[in-house]
Amino acid sequence: MEKKSESDKPIGIFDSGVGGLTVLKEIAARLPEEDIIYLGDTARVPYGIKSPETVIKFSQQNARFLLEKGIKMLVAACNTSSAVSLPALREETGIPVIGVIEPGARAAVRSTKTGKIGVIGTEATIKSMAYEKAIKGARGQGAKLEVITKSCPLFVPLAEEGWIENPVAEMTVEIYLKDLRDKGVDTLVLGCTHYPLLKNTIQRFMGNGVLLIDSAEETAKDIESLLKENDLLLKGKLSIKNFYVSDNPERFSKVGRVFLGENGLGRLSTVDLSRY
Ligand code: DGL
Repeated sequence: MEKKSESDKPIGIFDSGVGGLTVLKEIAARLPEEDIIYLGDTARVPYGIKSPETVIKFSQQNARFLLEKGIKMLVAACNTSSAVSLPALREETGIPVIGVIEPGARAAVRSTKTGKIGVIGTEATIKSMAYEKAIKGARGQGAKLEVITKSCPLFVPLAEEGWIENPVAEMTVEIYLKDLRDKGVDTLVLGCTHYPLLKNTIQRFMGNGVLLIDSAEETAKDIESLLKENDLLLKGKLSIKNFYVSDNPERFSKVGRVFLGENGLGRLSTVDLSRY
């Protein structure tokens, strides 16, 4: 009985803003019956240029807000938050907590043939070395891996503006990724919520021989497994999605359409996170 009421609860997802919708989209595609509460901390975005202490504090406030809504699982959809705040979130929540870094790292290790893996993300994610640690932690015995990282801060505003396949996007991709291409990585982890939007432009520049790892897709697979393992999967109903932001819901709706398409967003409310 208790398990059943637990499974009826929604999955809570948070991101620093709109980017986590790439993760929500993959979860909704894989688990269409699950209820989801999405929180975008639009008042304090971007997290990618902030200190670990600040990102942890913001992430804890986001988690407390979602816990108050009665969620069964917490997803840190933001790579920057996943890079620095998972231990703190796990300590505080008492429910399964999942980030986006480990699923992406595992997929990269599975995919690489040459052992040369590229990782791109925000400044804070790259500086934390969370992907290197997760990749080295996930490798099979004896596998020798080289991880080459690069922060690509301008990809975030490009994605938000919807400039994903124009000459500015192409030139920015070339400047940031030339070095990774020259070094011959065969796998490239898109280690930031926004980067999957630039997938086509990145793939064209890197060439078809390079496999792009979308953390969002991999995380959705992990969430499904974790829900199954904990007997928390919800079946046989239409899903409800509620969205919360900490500022400027109009911009969230507008940019959200770039991420989810025209009819993507459900009910949207504004919340003051400073009281959590
Ligand atoms: N959500 C962030 C991430 O995935 C990107 C935007 C930001 O810097 O807050 O790292």
